[in-house]
Amino acid sequence: MIYLDNGATSFPKPKGMVDAMDACMLSYCGNPGRSGHDLSRRTGEEVYRARQTLAELFQIRRADRILFTSNTTQALNMAIKGVLKQGDHVITTAMEHNSVLRPVWSMAARGVEHTIVPCAADGSLSLDLILGAIRKNTKMVICTQASNVTGTIMPIEALSKLCREQGLLLLVDGAQGAGHLPMTADGIDLLALPGHKGLLGPLGTGLLYVGEKVDITPIMEGGTGTLSRELEQPLELPEGFEAGTLNAPGIIGLGYSAAFVKKIGINVIRGHQQELTEILDSSLRNMKNVRVYGPSDCKKKVGIVTFNIKGMDCEEVASLLNDEYGIAVRAGYHCAGLAHKTIGTWDTGAVRVSMGIYNNEKQMKIAADAIYNLSKRS
Ligand code: ALA
Repeated sequence: MIYLDNGATSFPKPKGMVDAMDACMLSYCGNPGRSGHDLSRRTGEEVYRARQTLAELFQIRRADRILFTSNTTQALNMAIKGVLKQGDHVITTAMEHNSVLRPVWSMAARGVEHTIVPCAADGSLSLDLILGAIRKNTKMVICTQASNVTGTIMPIEALSKLCREQGLLLLVDGAQGAGHLPMTADGIDLLALPGHKGLLGPLGTGLLYVGEKVDITPIMEGGTGTLSRELEQPLELPEGFEAGTLNAPGIIGLGYSAAFVKKIGINVIRGHQQELTEILDSSLRNMKNVRVYGPSDCKKKVGIVTFNIKGMDCEEVASLLNDEYGIAVRAGYHCAGLAHKTIGTWDTGAVRVSMGIYNNEKQMKIAADAIYNLSKRS
């Protein structure tokens, strides 16, 4: 199988990560932060080490401001529902995933207003539209680092500067950027990340970084291993925001894989993925019956090439790629309906090819040939 669905989750995973999780579960996995015995303490130390590794990777000064979650969706829900209050206004973009748009939409019932600014057909965002949407009660801007539909890289640095000048909080959804693009938490107030995509960690892991000036309340209460006689939820970070038993083996695996990514170097990963993306993107753009979406300049996108074949259903194309060529991709709407509306695929959806560090040039050529052969059938 040629795996080209790294936007959904990266595959394969580093062997060392699997070994680290294996060692945890076979030899020391107690409940971290709960009991005083050796196994609990050792697991707690390893979880702490993972937090430190992630803090170093994203240049976060205080590792205790990293909250472990089950995925990016949970992290985004914690940020949106834990910070915005009745009477606030939030601005976001039409290229967001439903993990941003649905919680923002649901907050209307709690008196939080929103504006979803449109993006261009290639998914790019004009900062003027964000500026024009600011109201007296605007509290936060939410933007993806890169679109999961087109790969379009958003202007996070400029957005951060704008938010600083306007006194607004910036929440970044790093689902498709973390481990793919150089990025630090500097200038970002809240950063939601998956463990299992570009950071090569296990599924069921993610995190929310909460900047030092952000006032956040937990959206979930429960056991923290601290102040157990009190009924009120402790608010200390991280434990006040990590109620319940942590996915310690997953977090320890993530710590390993994040260190692995750091060792390879984000710039090296970025360079490799850009080369692969250019090969596939330019081949597809030369095919008569194939339409490619998103920026044609691969410097402006992460390792994603999204396309349709004229006259063929996107799900059928994905099935044929799987069944006849052993190529794994994702077709449909990618949990981002408004992004598809923006690029003109509201009625059709599209096929997404997403590259990872383990892909190579030869696979890009095989994928391009397979898509070409399918396009001849249409
Ligand atoms: N959000 C993931 C994707 O884009 C699952 O496929």
